[in-house]
Amino acid sequence: MATITILGSGGFGLSLAIMCDNAGHDVTVWSKFQDEIDTINRTGELKSKLPGVLINKTIKLTTDISAAKGKDMVIVGIPSNFVRSVCEEAAPYIDKDTIIVNTAKGLEAGSLKRMTEVEKECFPDNIIAVLTGPSHAEEVARGIPTTVCTACENREAANFIQQTLSNNTFRVYVNDDVIGCEIGGSLKNVIALAAGVCDGLGLGDNTKAALMTRGIREIARLGIAMGAERDTFAGLSGIGDLIVTCCSMHSRNRRAGILIGKGTDPAEAVRQVGTVEGYSCTKNAYDLAKKMGIEMPITEELAKVLFEGAPVGESIKKLMSRPSKNETESQFLS
Ligand SMILES: NC(=O)c1ccc[n+]([C@@H]2O[C@H](COP(=O)([O-])OP(=O)(O)OC[C@H]3O[C@@H](n4cnc5c(N)ncnc54)[C@H](O)[C@@H]3O)[C@@H](O)[C@H]2O)c1
Repeated sequence: MATITILGSGGFGLSLAIMCDNAGHDVTVWSKFQDEIDTINRTGELKSKLPGVLINKTIKLTTDISAAKGKDMVIVGIPSNFVRSVCEEAAPYIDKDTIIVNTAKGLEAGSLKRMTEVEKECFPDNIIAVLTGPSHAEEVARGIPTTVCTACENREAANFIQQTLSNNTFRVYVNDDVIGCEIGGSLKNVIALAAGVCDGLGLGDNTKAALMTRGIREIARLGIAMGAERDTFAGLSGIGDLIVTCCSMHSRNRRAGILIGKGTDPAEAVRQVGTVEGYSCTKNAYDLAKKMGIEMPITEELAKVLFEGAPVGESIKKLMSRPSKNETESQFLS
């Protein structure tokens, strides 16, 4: 049995809490918002985040962040925009031997840092890992078979996370490539937004397949330039998470994209859907690509649609009429 505190009582935090509680771990969920906890205590669920899923009564719920003290593992389940502020608040209570497991997907606005880099600044003495992969909260919470991967610079800690979180319905693989796992998990949201736009426009399966395969190619290009392994992008945190996000109505990024494709203003679409991390990630990824001199044509066009009012039709035309090239980078280079 492990002692685990989950920061964030959103869909994913709660789904992991249920999964860990079912596996017999000692689970506490921290929320910044008393009303989320009151709602769960009153109704047994949090309909706004995880409709139709009952939250185990054995899970401890609190707004007291000192509940992160003395735990084997603290899982960060907060949207990426708020990860730094929550981690700074938690830092005074976290023991040095607690493993921090990041599940937030995105890049920090301004610094363009990955979430585990942000967390390392907040918890300099702790081991920081990432847990990522195709794992819709709605399905994890219902015990639908799911596979994810964990990556960490400390192999022993990664093995501990794997052993602790794996069970009959949740299978955790270890991967040594922290950068690749994080970049794949974060930037798939950009491509999912674009896939939603195409769905909203009523374009076809060919277009979606093109976006996904050319999308993972440009994500990998950026990731490799940052030090990631090419192979990671063919795995759970890369193409795996991209498939689940581009094809499912559970994806808020895809749902926001569909609204945009149907003509809703991008900012309004994001307001209507809620947590749409692909929106800010598009800007951050585009800024990072420019800073690093990496070509990311889909991300660039989506950024123009989302933030500069570019007409979607023009962006698609531009993508389709780029100079002819070979499909893979190695052929291109040779
Ligand atoms: N939902 C999924 O299927 C899923 C799967 C894998 C990873 N993730 C990642 O997990 C993270 C959380 O996603 P989610 O789906 O649970 O989000 P959510 O929108 O369902 O919930 C967000 C929760 O975060 C907390 N929160 C919001 N604003 C906050 C603030 N300012 N300060 C402190 N806490 C705040 C609240 O408890 C809120 O309920 C994201 O980074 C997401 O990419 C989600």
